[in-house]
Amino acid sequence: MPGPVLALVGATGAVGTVMVDIFNGRTEWPWGEVRLIASPRSAGKKITVRGEELTVLALAPEVFDGVDVAMFDVPDEVSAQWAPIAAERGAVAVDNSGAFRMDDQVPLVVPEVNDDKAADRPRGIIANPNCTTLSMMAAIGALHREFELRELVVSSYQAASGAGQEGIDRLQAEYAAVAGKEVGVRAGDVREALAAAGLSQEDSPFPAPLALNVVPWAGSLKADGWNSEELKVRNESRKILGIPDLKVSATCVRVPVVTTHSLAVHATFANPVTVAQAHEILAAQPSIVLVDNPEAGEFPTPADVVGGDPTYVGRVRQALDFPNTLDFFVCGDNLRKGAALNTYEIAESLAKTL
Ligand SMILES: NC(=O)c1ccc[n+]([C@@H]2O[C@H](COP(=O)([O-])OP(=O)(O)OC[C@H]3O[C@@H](n4cnc5c(N)ncnc54)[C@H](OP(=O)(O)O)[C@@H]3O)[C@@H](O)[C@H]2O)c1
Repeated sequence: MPGPVLALVGATGAVGTVMVDIFNGRTEWPWGEVRLIASPRSAGKKITVRGEELTVLALAPEVFDGVDVAMFDVPDEVSAQWAPIAAERGAVAVDNSGAFRMDDQVPLVVPEVNDDKAADRPRGIIANPNCTTLSMMAAIGALHREFELRELVVSSYQAASGAGQEGIDRLQAEYAAVAGKEVGVRAGDVREALAAAGLSQEDSPFPAPLALNVVPWAGSLKADGWNSEELKVRNESRKILGIPDLKVSATCVRVPVVTTHSLAVHATFANPVTVAQAHEILAAQPSIVLVDNPEAGEFPTPADVVGGDPTYVGRVRQALDFPNTLDFFVCGDNLRKGAALNTYEIAESLAKTL
């Protein structure tokens, strides 16, 4: 019997491209057919999946006929419209956008933490968390199971590709504009160098220059000065961990890294925890690599972990002035575990039940 049919909507984007890499690298392959889907702009484009050249289809209701699992890696408004259509036509939709994450009828799933929730999907939709929350969830989930999480204070160092292919293209163009120039030494000179290269700030997905800079902003403005990314970290962490009153405070910052989000995490637990215990628990997780030897200069950095599947954890310390509290640093590729890989793991686990 042929295997189930898998659709990838958004096959041509930053996350979709990484998803195709994941398809091509997988040893186990349960699927009988794959359909690649994008906007009419990309229809007809050829993409090779596991040695077979596939033609990208334009998104339309009929492309979901016969599909068992449809993964959505498209903007929020496209998912909001089309994931229910895929579900109506009989597919389970696994959505990577923000459209359904906080919907009570839609489970928000990280397989290492709450795989059991995927089966309860009244709308036929399963949501994938945002990349910032996801990058720390395997580590937080493992520590929570043992020590009972009470509070989370997080600062993110987010990569340009979190803003999609447009973010990658913009950072690379900005790097090209400042390369070899004496800039970053006087207020405003980076902006001048970008303008001289024809890069206007209005056209950027970021609210300030990103090359040679650090920008304390991600997403859109929400009430009381918070941004959407910071509220996602709070709300999604609560939902995934099943702790509705978890105290969370996040500051989301964009840094001039192409891909891989980092987070400095300050986590307080109900129970005492030592660094040795945390090391033992983190090192035992199949999806975590512990890199924590500061004496030898060993800790995770985006440049060393980009392109990898695991979450990398280091700088684990017992907080000096806060009881039952650990500080640590996490790096995770925002396009892999932070997006495509987590979605694929949900889809793969569904394939076993079809
Ligand atoms: N980047 C990350 O780190 C990250 C992490 C987690 C979640 N996400 C979420 O994943 C989704 C995709 O993000 P991305 O970064 O891959 O974005 P992207 O690089 O901008 O790619 C967007 C994809 O959506 C397709 N698309 C856009 N409008 C469409 C339409 N009207 N009909 C059909 N297809 C359409 C595009 O097709 P064309 O090429 O034909 O335009 C492209 O394949 C977003 O919801 C994002 O929030 C992203």
